[in-house]
Amino acid sequence: MALILGIESSCDESAAALVRDDRTIVAHRLASQEAAHQPYGGVVPEIAARAHVESLPPLISAVFEEAGLELEDCDAVAATSGPGLIGGVMVGMVMGKALAMAAGKPFLAINHLEGHALSPRLDDASLQFPYLLLLVSGGHCQILRVDGPGAYARLATTIDDALGEAFDKTAKLLGLGYPGGPAVEKLAREGDPKAVPLPRPLLGSDEPHFSFAGLKSAVLRAVESGEHAAADIAASFQQAAIDCVVDRLGKALTEANFDAPITRLVVAGGVAANQSVRAALEALAAKHDIAFSAPPIWLCTDNAAMIGWAGMERFLAGDTGDPLDFKARPRWPL
Ligand code: KG4
Ligand code: ZN
Repeated sequence: MALILGIESSCDESAAALVRDDRTIVAHRLASQEAAHQPYGGVVPEIAARAHVESLPPLISAVFEEAGLELEDCDAVAATSGPGLIGGVMVGMVMGKALAMAAGKPFLAINHLEGHALSPRLDDASLQFPYLLLLVSGGHCQILRVDGPGAYARLATTIDDALGEAFDKTAKLLGLGYPGGPAVEKLAREGDPKAVPLPRPLLGSDEPHFSFAGLKSAVLRAVESGEHAAADIAASFQQAAIDCVVDRLGKALTEANFDAPITRLVVAGGVAANQSVRAALEALAAKHDIAFSAPPIWLCTDNAAMIGWAGMERFLAGDTGDPLDFKARPRWPL
């Protein structure tokens, strides 16, 4: 039975996990840096990198201790090697390389987006390739056809802001602080999604892509007008964003020319933690008569289990690892 250590440090979560090929998450630990970045209203890269230096070694020790296992029990070490804040990425990647070298095991340089993209399969053994994936995080908003580890076809992306970024900016405008997504979702529950007229950029457009910049500007105007309750703005923003996502995905499901039939719609990434987003996508999948999958909430936001699992998928596919001089990649499209 194969065992992989996963390490994540691309943004503001330091995390370590041990995962097995039978999809058991043997142990996982996460240290959020939320409190350190809170006063600045967003992630400060230098603070993040330093915090990863402090947090990761005890987290890695803790997962081995909890599992009653040792580094030598691992078949490979997988660490996020991009995309993300380069200082933090380098911290986790270098630790991963050092541990792999010490154990004489392969080092797997993991694309963080691949971690998100394959995360639904960690929880759901029945999820087979290919599937249509909406990948929505703080930095990305993409529709992908996932054919297998390392095999992705990008069908759509955002021409300006990512969806998570739009949630974070709306939160900031409403004075909800950082991180914004969960706060907007909570406040939206108390508001009327029809109260504030907001645009749905690119709705019905012939091109497949997303755009959220116009929605963000409209939220700014709505806040500045002083005419609306914050909860109504949050609810109206969330509904407008969901309408855009459903429209774009509906287009992809209807028009994309797939070689093999797509039987599942899957969502992953931080914004996939949003219950209203999940419900809207589930309804869309039902309308198209395909199944719908979303990872459990904790696997949607950044974590190391999904990095270990992406490593496992590659390992099981016969990947023998990356060279120890692999360079961290601040930008790394799937
Ligand atoms: O995947 P993730 O943890 O980190 C990145 O790789 O970016 O995603 C973080 C993003 C943030 O923009 C955060 O506000 C958003 O996901 N997010 C949410 C929710 N939870 C996290 N957005 C909407 N509703 C949520 N419940
Ligand atoms: Zn992420």
